Amino acid sequence: MTDTLQDIRTDFETRLETLDREEDLRQVKADFIGKKGRVTLMMKELKSLTPEEKRQAGPALNQLKNHIESALQEKAHELKSRASKNRAGAFDLTLPGRKSTTGHLHPVTQVMEELIGIFSGMGFNVEEGPQIESDYYNFEALNIPKDHPARDMQDTFYIGDKVLRTHTSPVQIHVMERQPPPLRIIAPGKVYRCDSDVSHTPMFHQIEGLMVDHNVKFSDLKGVIETFLKEVFGANVKVRFRPSFFPFTCPSAEVDIQCVMCTGSGCRTCGQTGWLEILGAGMVDPAVFGFVDYDPEEWSGFAFGLGIERIAMLKFGINDIRLYFENDIRFLHQF
Ligand code: DAH
Repeated sequence: MTDTLQDIRTDFETRLETLDREEDLRQVKADFIGKKGRVTLMMKELKSLTPEEKRQAGPALNQLKNHIESALQEKAHELKSRASKNRAGAFDLTLPGRKSTTGHLHPVTQVMEELIGIFSGMGFNVEEGPQIESDYYNFEALNIPKDHPARDMQDTFYIGDKVLRTHTSPVQIHVMERQPPPLRIIAPGKVYRCDSDVSHTPMFHQIEGLMVDHNVKFSDLKGVIETFLKEVFGANVKVRFRPSFFPFTCPSAEVDIQCVMCTGSGCRTCGQTGWLEILGAGMVDPAVFGFVDYDPEEWSGFAFGLGIERIAMLKFGINDIRLYFENDIRFLHQF
């Protein structure tokens, strides 16, 4: 019997050593300790032995069985870790390559850059200002006192005496405070208002313009704005100036272009009027010069402010401003 046990052990070792597939491992297990395995059969045979023989063979057989079980377990581990290593290192030359996708600028940023380019071409420098403003810069110094009804149209988020700026106009004040005239600047950036519907989002972008020099006239403003709108919407675009009111300009105007959707015949986009409001503008109010110590007898200027999303919507034919900020890749891919 001892001989046979030794044979079994040797056979088992040889087969274990040479196998390298999990299914072979299962077969070895069946052959040795499965229901009809050699070790199992020998255990059954123990019953027919004498008590003396049992005492000798029993422990040896158990020991062999334990040895086989733990050796099988170890081998199973080894095979598993080898398989996962192979998977990680596998490199199939025949697979098609994975192309890395390049993104692109957001449509609002694209239009913003285009507009900045047009004003740069007319000699305007780009300036920036803070998005968190004091009441003074956002309202007071723009000639909008505390109880002025114009504040109602620009309800915003207040944090103590700070506000998220409701327009880019306060950059006018910052720039005039730090440099003397003459100047010609634009200020693109984010602005905030308590507003949300198909044509308003709580955050949107504006470009502010300001030119101050000797003898700047309303006709200069007209020339700059018309040139700008022709660049954006084509040389045939029709432009009109309507009298309006802003506390920081006098006289003030709102500027419309003929509706790009219906070319003036009236549609839903233009509310059947044939015209689309594009921007606000005017001659800088002397009161504003007073806040920054510019002499209104010597200097004059014009200012304007426009919404970038609105222009982008007209250019791309988009009827819901919120699409810009939902970050749906299917929408953004189109630009
Ligand atoms: N800040 C104004 C707004 O957001 C737009 C505007 C109107 C800016 C007239 C100007 C201006 O500089 O002259 O409604």
